[in-house]
Amino acid sequence: MINKCLFPAAGYGTRFLPATKSMPKEMMPVVNKPLIEYGVEEALQAGMESMCIVTGRGKHTLMDHFDKNYELEHQIEGTNKEVLLDDIRRTIESAQFTFIRQREMKGLGHAILTGRELIGNEPFAVVLADDLCVNHEGDGVLQQMVKLYKQFRCSIVAVEEVPLTETHKYGVIDGQCIREDLYRVTNMVEKPESGTEPSNLAIIGRYILTPDIFEFIEDTEAGKGGEIQITDALLRQAEQGCVIAYKFKGQRFDCGSVEGYMEATNHCYKNVYLKDKDIVIKQERTEKEVEPAC
Ligand code: G1P
Repeated sequence: MINKCLFPAAGYGTRFLPATKSMPKEMMPVVNKPLIEYGVEEALQAGMESMCIVTGRGKHTLMDHFDKNYELEHQIEGTNKEVLLDDIRRTIESAQFTFIRQREMKGLGHAILTGRELIGNEPFAVVLADDLCVNHEGDGVLQQMVKLYKQFRCSIVAVEEVPLTETHKYGVIDGQCIREDLYRVTNMVEKPESGTEPSNLAIIGRYILTPDIFEFIEDTEAGKGGEIQITDALLRQAEQGCVIAYKFKGQRFDCGSVEGYMEATNHCYKNVYLKDKDIVIKQERTEKEVEPAC
């Protein structure tokens, strides 16, 4: 139903300088996996197979990461290191990757419009890789949103409640509550000045967009920070049709900030990395146990 996922990944990641001086911020590792790989895995889990990445200058390692590395693979073939490539190999085999360059940095709306060539005329998801989302209890956040899309057939933004002191960092919505976790959007403001926020419901980096959003973006003038904001285009779409805001189940880490990145690292170390390692060790033990004793 939704087959394509767009990853705007042309930004500079200045908050992580000097680490991001020559390395894309999307390649920052959370434990042993780059941020963008978590996003791609979430999209795959939601049934998407086409990953459309909007890149910029100096981002070629993003392309290399989702490609084979014959030399390295040859070197570790048959060793116990090979297992470390299992996840990325599976990801590369399960998805198609396409890339387009955003030549000018004119905001998230502009980045999404740049991806139009890769998306065409179908509904699609957007993942901002520096928001790392996990839900250990069930469906990933994108999958939850895909299920909702089947019901509503309109654009959907994921939101979470944040302290009022934080709203200035986000797109913030106002809406009519239609279910405990759903709002029909009536207003949306990008990074509101303190005291002017319409609510404490902040948009996080997960969207499902219907393709008419491209026309709304084309008609959107530069807004906050002189950039073309997806929030402004979505407000027009909400006014002329319907946009749903969804309070997702799970946890989201703002890996665009050092604090959020550290929290994500600790969380994934305990809840993903150590658990996976435990499974591998148990598997190895079981394999040894069933080996014929000859
Ligand atoms: C972007 C969006 C903003 C959204 C945020 C989520 O802002 O413009 O509406 O709330 O992502 O992470 P950025 O963080 O790129 O400044």
